[in-house]
Amino acid sequence: MRSIFISREMAQLILLQRNELLTPFLKKIRKVLGRYLFTNFISKYFISKNQVGIEYMNLMEYELRSLSKYLSFNDKNILSIGSGLSGLELSIYKNYKNNFFSIIEKNYVSQKVVYGWDKNNNEAYNRISLVEKFLIQNGMDENKFKIYNYDSDNLPEKSFDYIISLYSLDYHYDFNLYYEYLKKNFSNKTKIIFDTIRPDYFKKIFTNVDIINIEENTVHKSKRIICSGLKSN
Ligand SMILES: C[S@@+](CC[C@H](N)C(=O)[O-])C[C@H]1O[C@@H](n2cnc3c(N)ncnc32)[C@H](O)[C@@H]1O
Repeated sequence: MRSIFISREMAQLILLQRNELLTPFLKKIRKVLGRYLFTNFISKYFISKNQVGIEYMNLMEYELRSLSKYLSFNDKNILSIGSGLSGLELSIYKNYKNNFFSIIEKNYVSQKVVYGWDKNNNEAYNRISLVEKFLIQNGMDENKFKIYNYDSDNLPEKSFDYIISLYSLDYHYDFNLYYEYLKKNFSNKTKIIFDTIRPDYFKKIFTNVDIINIEENTVHKSKRIICSGLKSN
């Protein structure tokens, strides 16, 4: 990975969004001190932001390589739900031509994040201004993306080619939160990719459901599915 612009605050967000990037030493410290102290104090001083940035972008390029087996990325309207810092979107931008990214995210960091299923969808680890800065400073044309705050903005209304939600939709919170919105913005050529522990449930919702990856050995014990043909009821 080439050099990447990354601030300390961005690196801190990355470690919340992708905690597999924490070193074993930092994981131990977080276990002992708890998330709040770790996020607010330790990760401010004990991480190398550049190292985190490089490892994050390597991971996002790996994600892109595996998605590229199923999706072709030129000239596409892409919706990203819960993109985190949007390293994947930056990788797509750098490697392919003429895609537009609509990004839906939350704009706060929960004080005490409980990883796993969040029934009320209160958990979030992002700052929209930092996502914007990350993308622009790393070379993305500002006319090629728009970020929407899930809690306060009208969400984008258009039919998307691809909807991508890695470790967010149905991984941290119920798919049904987005169901009505997706029905309005799904065409017969739209494909959606997300991570879930209940792939069979989605056979009732989509005509086509394919498992493209199974995570057993990492913190994410889930299956990645690609679906098309959203049924209307
Ligand atoms: C585990 S992180 C994954 C980030 C990124 N997709 C990745 O793979 O690195 C989950 C993300 O979902 C976001 N999120 C939580 N609730 C959301 C919602 N209702 N809509 C959009 N994003 C949400 C969080 O703020 C966080 O950035």
